Formats: sequence, structure tokens, C-alpha cells
Amino acid sequence: MADPVRIGLLGRGTVGAAFAELLAEQAGAVGSATGRRPEISGVLTRSDGDFGAILESSDLIVELIGGADPARQFVIDALRAGRPVVTANKQLLAQHGDELFAIAREAGVQLRFEAAVAGAIPIVRALQESFGATEITKVFGIVNGTTNFILSEMAATGAAYEDALARAQELGYAEADPAEDVNGADAAAKMAILARLAFHTPVTLSEVAYEGIESIQPDDLAYAKELGLSLKLLGVAERLKGGISVRVFPCFLYGGHPLSPVEGPFNAVMVEAPAITEVTMSGPGAGGVQTASAVLGDVVSILAGDAPVHETREELPIVADVASSFYLHLEVADRPGVLARIAQVLGDNEISVKSVVQRGIGDDARLVMVLHECLESRFEAAVAALSELDVLRGAPRAIRAIEEEFV
Ligand SMILES: NC(=O)c1ccc[n+]([C@@H]2O[C@H](COP(=O)([O-])OP(=O)(O)OC[C@H]3O[C@@H](n4cnc5c(N)ncnc54)[C@H](OP(=O)(O)O)[C@@H]3O)[C@@H](O)[C@H]2O)c1
Repeated sequence: MADPVRIGLLGRGTVGAAFAELLAEQAGAVGSATGRRPEISGVLTRSDGDFGAILESSDLIVELIGGADPARQFVIDALRAGRPVVTANKQLLAQHGDELFAIAREAGVQLRFEAAVAGAIPIVRALQESFGATEITKVFGIVNGTTNFILSEMAATGAAYEDALARAQELGYAEADPAEDVNGADAAAKMAILARLAFHTPVTLSEVAYEGIESIQPDDLAYAKELGLSLKLLGVAERLKGGISVRVFPCFLYGGHPLSPVEGPFNAVMVEAPAITEVTMSGPGAGGVQTASAVLGDVVSILAGDAPVHETREELPIVADVASSFYLHLEVADRPGVLARIAQVLGDNEISVKSVVQRGIGDDARLVMVLHECLESRFEAAVAALSELDVLRGAPRAIRAIEEEFV
């Protein structure tokens, strides 16, 4: 067999340690498959190792530190020194993708990042290779397992958001500081990467509009159940007239939607294109060994000599106003004519109602409705007008929905 391939490992935390273990177990198999047996030549942590010495003694760098700095500089130095790089770092790619891909192209070496999006699900490889010549119209899904666990827990037990989050932390599905997961920023970074790959256009994190799940109320989930809906935090990247839209938001789905049975800490991604109709992939979105398996897959691809070249082919603008369907929750005075006034405001804004549930609560009533798709600017105007009505007892609560029903 040829010389071993020497891997410099940056970071030995949850994923780095799992990767080192998996590599030790699988080195023989990788050697048989690729002709070169991998071995770890050096490890960098905060307290141990020297990057320059590791780079010098490595043929390939695996970056599992996380965050933009100092990971960015390490990756740049490695690429410029002609070393292929494998990373699981979504922040790095979502913020500095253009720069890093350009350096990799210039240096003629591979930069692989399967583990940066949706853990063990091979969506990056699918977009770059399997669908590399397919005109993708939409890529969307559940790309954050922490929030999917919290929403599943709230729906199943009626728990408040804070209690479901505490349970996720207890089980290790949420970090001690869960902000980036629950506010949608983590999913936004992943969607920036997927949009770039799907549409061959530069997209950075700052262009992704995102909302999180912190203000979801248990009664929204209870009403949704009556309407046959389940709630997910969705990342959606779609090609629209005039450009693309890349967003993250909580969204209700009807039963039968391919994403509605995805529960707990799992991820699922759907790809739509005229040529392939619709492809759905689901699986574990995080975890040390699951993520390490995707990292090792990238190492195998590099050793096997596959060389996907990431290039942007066009500059597509972000479309500001998109069409969505909404779930709308209103607390109103329970007296004759109220429903007609609300219907009037919606009608004035050319919005029609798909379904409605009404409940009396003392002298007041709760109106929960699903609206047909309309431009979001129209919906916002309708909500502003509804808020002015004297019959309203609290601020309207709105959550996006996909109104498509499956049989
Ligand atoms: N955990 C997951 O389930 C998961 C899933 C998908 C993707 N990822 C991605 O995988 C990467 C690693 O995540 P992780 O969960 O393994 O992180 P982690 O457990 O926090 O480990 C980070 C490692 O990097 C080292 N490190 C941090 N800052 C450093 C610095 N300035 N210089 C040198 N070493 C430094 C740490 O050193 P010390 O040991 O000295 O602290 C530690 O060994 C991240 O990009 C993350 O987004 C993780």
C-alpha cells in the first residue's frame, strides 16, 4: 500500500474526539477502499499542539474547532499550503464561504463540508454531485434538531417552551447557552450554505431572514392539533421570479406533509426540481459520532480523488416580499358582528380564510384561522389594521403555514 495519509486534527471536542475514535476503527477499511491508510499526525486544542507544526506534518487538515476565528485563518493557511480541508463548521462557511471557496479553487485543493449541514444526512454531496446539473427550485426542511425536539415535546405534552427547553438540555439536545439554536441563527447559517449550493449563487448569513421559536405558546400547538397541523422550524431556500428567498421561520404543516412526521432531534431536507419532482432525506442532524461519520466520509472522498468544484454561476438577488400562508390567532370581544369586521379587514387586503376555529372564553372569544397564501406585505398590513380594532383583546399572533394538504 502507498504511504499513509497524515491527518492534522484541529479540535478534539464532541466531534473531534468521535472522529479520532472512528478513524482508528475504520483506518483499515479506508485504506482498502482508497489505497491510503489514514492516521492522525497531530491534534490541536486550546491547550495543546502547534498549528504550524501540525500543518507541516499533515497531508490533509480536519477542522473541528467551530466558530469563525481562529478557524478561518487555519483553513486559509492549510488551503494555501496545498492541503485539502474537511470542516464541520457552518458559521465559517456561511460567513466566509466566498473567500474560502476562491482560495481552494486558486490552490487547486478540495474544501469539503458535508457535516456542516444536517449532520449525518448527505445533503451537501447530493446538491453538489447528484443534483449538480439539476435546476433546483427549492430546498427546505428541518435543519436544527434542538428546536425540533422542543416543538415535538411541546406538542406531545402541552409543556411550556421553557420546560421543553429544560428537558432538551437535560437530554443533551440543547447547549447550556441555546440562543443560536432557538433564535433560528444556527438554521440560518445552514440555509445560507444550502442556498449557495442549490442555486450556484453567493449567499451569506447576513442575507438570510430568520425567526426562532421562543415566542411559541402551548395553546397555539393545541389549536393547531384541532386543525390537523404540526409545527416545525423550517429553513426554506427557493427560486422565485426575480431572484431567490432564503428564510427560517416556525411553520405549521398539514398531516401527510413529508416533514410532519419528523419528530425529536431529527433533521430532514427536501429538494424540489422539475426533473426530480421531490426528494426527501432524513436522519440524525447532530451528535458526535453521527457528525464524525460525515467528516470521515469527506476524508474518504478526498482520498478517492472525487473533486467537486464549487463555483457560483450567477448572482441572484434576494426577493424582499414573498407569498406565505398564515395561521392567525386573535382574542376578541364575544359579540355579534366581530367576525364580520375581521373578515372585512382581511378582505380589504385581498386575504381569504381557509379554515377557522372559534372558542368562547368568558366575555371574550378566541378566533384561530388558517389563511390562504398572500404576499407577506399584505398580511402585515392586515395585522396592523386588525390591531387597531377596538374589539381586539390582545396583540394578534401569527405563524406561517404551508396550506398544501396531502392525501
Ligand atoms: N456537536 C455536534 O453535534 C455538531 C454537529 C454538527 C456540526 N458540528 C460542528 O463541529 C464543530 C466542532 O463542534 P464540537 O461540538 O465538537 O465542539 P466542542 O466540543 O466545543 O470542541 C471544540 C474543540 O476545539 C478546540 N478549540 C476551540 N477553540 C480553539 C482554539 N482557539 N484553538 C485551538 N483549539 C480550539 C477545543 O479545545 P479544548 O479541548 O482545549 O477546549 C475543543 O477540542 C463545530 O464547527 C460545530 O458547529 C457539531
